[in-house]
Amino acid sequence: MVSKINKKILLAASGGIAAYKTAELVRLLRKKNAEVRVVLTHAAEKFVTPLTFQALSGHAVATELLDTEQENAMGHINLARWADLLIVAPATADIIAKFSHGLADDLLSTLYLAAECPVYIAPAMNQAMWNKTVTQDNIKKLQNHGVTIIGPESGDQACGEQGFGRMSEPEEICNHLLTGSSSSLLQGKSVLISAGPTREPLDPVRYISNRSSGKMGYALAEAAINQGASVTLVSGPVSLSAPAKTNLVNVETAQQMYEEVLQRAGLYDVYIGAAAVADYSPDQIKEEKIKKQADRTTIVLRKNKDILSAVAHLKQRPFTVGFAAETQELEKYARGKLERKNLDMIAANWVGKESGGFEDDNNALQVFWRQGKQNFEMMNKKRLAEKLIELIAEKLDEKNTTKNP
Ligand code: C5P
Repeated sequence: MVSKINKKILLAASGGIAAYKTAELVRLLRKKNAEVRVVLTHAAEKFVTPLTFQALSGHAVATELLDTEQENAMGHINLARWADLLIVAPATADIIAKFSHGLADDLLSTLYLAAECPVYIAPAMNQAMWNKTVTQDNIKKLQNHGVTIIGPESGDQACGEQGFGRMSEPEEICNHLLTGSSSSLLQGKSVLISAGPTREPLDPVRYISNRSSGKMGYALAEAAINQGASVTLVSGPVSLSAPAKTNLVNVETAQQMYEEVLQRAGLYDVYIGAAAVADYSPDQIKEEKIKKQADRTTIVLRKNKDILSAVAHLKQRPFTVGFAAETQELEKYARGKLERKNLDMIAANWVGKESGGFEDDNNALQVFWRQGKQNFEMMNKKRLAEKLIELIAEKLDEKNTTKNP
């Protein structure tokens, strides 16, 4: 673990109550040898004062875009050039929206546009504001532009509500800036994940598929990256953007997914089969569109190869984790798959009327391995993915320790 951060850090706070924690972040970063210059938006100044940050950072605080005195000290373009990285903590819904739309009507939004260094943001807002589609779209856009999102966390909020939207703790943000990830349980490890549905073509315009959204697999990719892993995501067609730093391989059919996974799996430390792979494909793909004719018609299907089982039976195999969606006798069927497919771990969930599952943002899991099990209550798939990745890291570590005591 890196213990010093000899970097020039431009630390900006926008207007949220979490800005009081930013003072602690300045102190932590300086303790790690970073040189810190602080920018406050006008809204942030309503919560905290420039004087606090001047005292903690040892530099005058920048608050104005169009101010001769501040521009003379260090103009906004020079400030953007000076920085090795820009971190915005807290980042409000407003500043996130400004960044994602390229607005530049105040000092911070202008600095973001002018900055060529890596940019990190630690969002903080009310849970409903965080969950709003427009905020999530803005976040995805920023991720696509290479911005790293730290947090937010779930828990009690200043407004009295509960949920995701609390800014990550200063220690965690500092850690993230030091190591490139918030934690390091999978530092140096490679993780291969398959996600989403597959599409099995019938003719040039039709296919057989399923309702998988890919959310669980994509959340696992993000959680593994945040633990320091290098991640390859082999994905069926979904409408999600892959987390920054993911090596994304797009596929359509079960056969393509099989090939892309199998040619890599032996080189990875962990394989997580989170995809809803079609069990069967049409035996023949018609070259021309199938015409409407008889009242009844038949499609002959052929069984697909089981990707998960094939990976788990490789001579040089990764730590292999499967998923099982069941409508009855969850543990019995899940443990059956664990044995039959030769897995290290299986994450099972109920599918059906009242459970989360395919298209839902929430899910509950029961995770089984040979000597044990763990229940994860119904929660947001992102949080669930973090917990599952922590468990995988722990069991991987145990397995490696037994192999090489
Ligand atoms: O046997 P079942 O389809 O219920 O097992 C589900 C698990 O197996 C999932 O992890 C899924 O990704 C994987 N699977 C696979 N290849 C298939 C079918 C399922 O890898 N052809």
